[in-house]
Amino acid sequence: MLALENVAKTFHTGADHVHAIRELSLFLHDGDFLTIIGSNGAGKSTLLNLIAGTILPSTGRISLGGSDITTVPAYKRARLVGRIVQDPLAGTAPEMTVAENLALAMKRHGRGLRMALPRKLRRDFKDQLARLSIGLESRLDCPVSLLSGGERQALAVLMATLVPPKLLLLDEHTAALDPANAAMIVQLTESFVDRSGLATLMVTHNMEQAIAVGNRLIMMHAGEVIHELHGKEKQQATVLNLVDLFSQRHVADDELLLKRVPEAITVPV
Ligand SMILES: Nc1ncnc2c1ncn2[C@@H]1O[C@H](COP(=O)(O)OP(=O)(O)OP(=O)(O)O)[C@@H](O)[C@H]1O
Ligand SMILES: [Mg+2]
Repeated sequence: MLALENVAKTFHTGADHVHAIRELSLFLHDGDFLTIIGSNGAGKSTLLNLIAGTILPSTGRISLGGSDITTVPAYKRARLVGRIVQDPLAGTAPEMTVAENLALAMKRHGRGLRMALPRKLRRDFKDQLARLSIGLESRLDCPVSLLSGGERQALAVLMATLVPPKLLLLDEHTAALDPANAAMIVQLTESFVDRSGLATLMVTHNMEQAIAVGNRLIMMHAGEVIHELHGKEKQQATVLNLVDLFSQRHVADDELLLKRVPEAITVPV
């Protein structure tokens, strides 16, 4: 279980300060799949960074599986926390081959690479890649820089989950992909999450995706959770409902939010 208790993060740059997260509490059980929406600058990435440990909270406490991880450095959390970001290049080493990237992912998680026979490892990697059903199993020796964005992101999903983490953090991980590849990556992500039953947080600006995926949804604005949907309320939500909820909290005039959901402002005739 992941618990954030009264977590706040203020960034100080010179004389300025930004309250990126304001006193936020959030509890996730194993198997919970939380989607996170919100306008630009709402604090979504900051929230995931705090959980990953790449930044530390100004106040509050974060625990995972009952252990306090508030000040545990990111590299020590990497074994417990899988992370995929928007840029398909960010999750992989482009100059290295598909097989080398997978080996790196295992090493990062401290598994005994030295004990494994390379040939057996290659067979394992091939089997894992074949499950993605996009033909990557025949490209083990291809440098990742030659793969398409969708193929790289599929590899990033596999790398983040090769040694199953306790928690999966997805920050707009399909935003740079075309709709078909985005759907493929979401499907891969969901099937992994279903199989492993770990807790997942997924940031997205695609409201349809936020509704369709997972069992809980939060809306963030100005560093706060302004609404949470779960169960039936989430299943039955529509994009228009969400825009309406935003507007009730005076944020629907956020141009950047609405720009990303043009279908939501199409008035039916
Ligand atoms: N390292 C930093 N130093 C200073 N300010 C920061 C830093 N990181 C984030 N911020 C500020 O904190 C606020 C929240 O940023 P964050 O990146 O979490 O937003 P977001 O919800 O992920 O937005 P987007 O949808 O654009 O990705 C913003 O005002 C941002 O400028
Ligand atoms: Mg962000």
